Amino acid sequence: MLDRVFGEIESRRSDSVAALKNLLRIPSVSTKPDHLPDMARCAAWLADQIRQTGLSASVEPTRGHPIVLGASPRQMDRPTVLLYGHYDVQPPEPLELWTTPPFEPAERDGAIYARGASDDKGQIWAHIEAIRVWQRHGGLPVNLIVLIEGEEEIASKNLEAFLRQRRADLAADIAVVSDSGQFARGLPAITYGLRGLVYMEVFITAASCDLHSGIYGGAVPNPANVLCEVLATLHDRDGRVNIPGFYHDVVPLSAPDRQAFAQLPFDERRFMQDLGVGGLCGEAGFSTIERQWARPTCDINGLTAGYQGPGAKTIIPAKASAKVSMRLVPNQDPRKIEQAFRQAICQRCPNTVTVEFAQHGLGAAALVPLDSPAMKLAAAAVKQGFGTEPVFMREGGSIPVVGHIKSILGIDTLLVGFGLPDDRVHAPNEKFDLDALYCGTRTAAALYHQLARL
Ligand code: BES
Ligand code: MN
Ligand code: MN
Repeated sequence: MLDRVFGEIESRRSDSVAALKNLLRIPSVSTKPDHLPDMARCAAWLADQIRQTGLSASVEPTRGHPIVLGASPRQMDRPTVLLYGHYDVQPPEPLELWTTPPFEPAERDGAIYARGASDDKGQIWAHIEAIRVWQRHGGLPVNLIVLIEGEEEIASKNLEAFLRQRRADLAADIAVVSDSGQFARGLPAITYGLRGLVYMEVFITAASCDLHSGIYGGAVPNPANVLCEVLATLHDRDGRVNIPGFYHDVVPLSAPDRQAFAQLPFDERRFMQDLGVGGLCGEAGFSTIERQWARPTCDINGLTAGYQGPGAKTIIPAKASAKVSMRLVPNQDPRKIEQAFRQAICQRCPNTVTVEFAQHGLGAAALVPLDSPAMKLAAAAVKQGFGTEPVFMREGGSIPVVGHIKSILGIDTLLVGFGLPDDRVHAPNEKFDLDALYCGTRTAAALYHQLARL
């Protein structure tokens, strides 16, 4: 039967691309209030598409953006798979760097260019197509629950409560997420580890308004100076994060892990060239891949203070702020790290300024066992879908729900992603290869076929 399913996936190639473009035309930017109607429209569109495959589907309201929930009829004698994805996308700015507009999907060089093409609409679309085709060939071989949320890019704020409330409806044997990448073009991968995240914003204020820097400079506290001094203390000379307790719970990388990473075909020169950087940096004593996948970090993601327009303006700004995110590795507790960060910043600020914080997201790292039966079935599915054995890798990015799926629903997640390293996720000119869509659709179909054996 899988052969016939593959045959129809092939013949539906252009229909699939055309429908994905409709999804990509909806500007579902979760972080911007202006896009609230687009979020609702995107959720409704997806629910409708899921219904067209023959599954039931509903749009479930939350305190934030709605969740799309779909399901096939439950049959007792087969395993249940929970498919997770997200329909929200990152803001498209800076707009002037896009070759074609972010929400007008364009095909060129064998890829679709649009915001969300790879992260994550193209990847969820591969699954919806696979579901559609299975339904036309006697029905899906597993029970399927589809959960597509609209707040992943803003740290899945309302998903944890939803998982708790709807635990019974979401009961499954295994979760599947396609929101990660292949190792390289021609080398598909299964991801078994993700980093966690603590996202903080720091606000420093002093005088009640901006001050003339000639009249007052040198005599009153400057929040921008203070912020820079404090941020500069966050790393030591070896590139380690200088926050007391930060490494306390970190489990050292095992020798087999380091060996496995070292054996992957990673070309550091190519990597530097592709990114346009003149050199690499990071924590002393670790390789680039180790730094990306398995070591915790602290990075400034945004800085704001003072006059931002063209030319000079001589002021001492009244306030300064920074967005700082920390990537976590397994066993680090996001809440403890948040506290350690707050404490370190407060202690290092002089008492002439006021310090305040906002927290924009917490998520634990995830590690999936490599030797499970489900993992073997997933590897077989990738082989069938791409025609190549997958490599097992970790990723530096975060998908907060993976931890919650384990802690609340009690199941592991298979991270079978179809993106490519040059997809420019979160950046201008994001794209998804048509080949990745095609092989991804085949892999999704093969995965449901394989998981029926669980
Ligand atoms: N799909 C990504 C995460 C990802 C990227 C996994 C690359 C594997 C490889 C996801 O949409 C994402 O961007 N997550 C955010 C999480 C945050 C906003 C809570 C991230 O990692 O910054
Ligand atoms: Mn994603
Ligand atoms: Mn993302």
